[in-house]
Amino acid sequence: MKIVIVQDYEEMSRALADAVAEVVKSSQSPVLGLATGSTPVGAYKMLAEFFAQKKLSFQNVRTVNLDEYVGLGSDDEQSYVSFMRRNLFDLVDLQRQNTHLPNGLATDLQQECLRYRRVLQQNVQDLQILGLGTNGHIGFNEPNTPFDEQTHLVELSPNTIHDNARFFEDVSQVPTKAITMGIAEIMRAKKIVVVANGSNKARAVRDMVCGEISERCPASILQTHPDCTLIVDTLAAKLIL
Ligand code: F6R
Repeated sequence: MKIVIVQDYEEMSRALADAVAEVVKSSQSPVLGLATGSTPVGAYKMLAEFFAQKKLSFQNVRTVNLDEYVGLGSDDEQSYVSFMRRNLFDLVDLQRQNTHLPNGLATDLQQECLRYRRVLQQNVQDLQILGLGTNGHIGFNEPNTPFDEQTHLVELSPNTIHDNARFFEDVSQVPTKAITMGIAEIMRAKKIVVVANGSNKARAVRDMVCGEISERCPASILQTHPDCTLIVDTLAAKLIL
């Protein structure tokens, strides 16, 4: 794993936005794997600025997102589809039909997982962006998820529900289930960039980078990916320095 240590959130966001822009420019129809959460927001803002300054077009870009909460749809501002519209899709020239997320409102969730597996087979990521859970999760692949898992339904861990409560009025409003891209489908990406900032991520960063490769820390599998870069600020890197 290549490790890039940066000073702060701004520098991390710039490095991620540049990595995305490079992939978008290098292919006729690039596929981006996208993450939600607070970590990539700054990079999405910069990508929207590149578009506004006519430095970058997303006209031919296809996107696949990592995950979606079960029970939330586009009319709920906490859904990941709303997050993506607000932070990127509505700010650039992405064609809506080229953007893909699991449908958290599907009546048959198992069928929805199978549908999303097929979407991912047809849209292999040139670049997958990953945030990192404080428990080492990637996507919503919680500790002890098999490394060979594809898109599946998950029961969110108490740790993740607690972490994500900051986006909701009350912890009781955090959905307890989600559909997530599996680790096998994350690892299929040609290139992976993981971003992490803040001291609350330091332990997970250490376990991901230096720990045993084990399903107890889902992100540790990234040590085996042929083209994975970690962009991390000094606070999140403090246990690997
Ligand atoms: C988001 C996702 C999660 C987050 C992770 C970190 O789509 O799949 O794995 O990347 O929970 O979240 P933040 O960035 O909010 O700390």
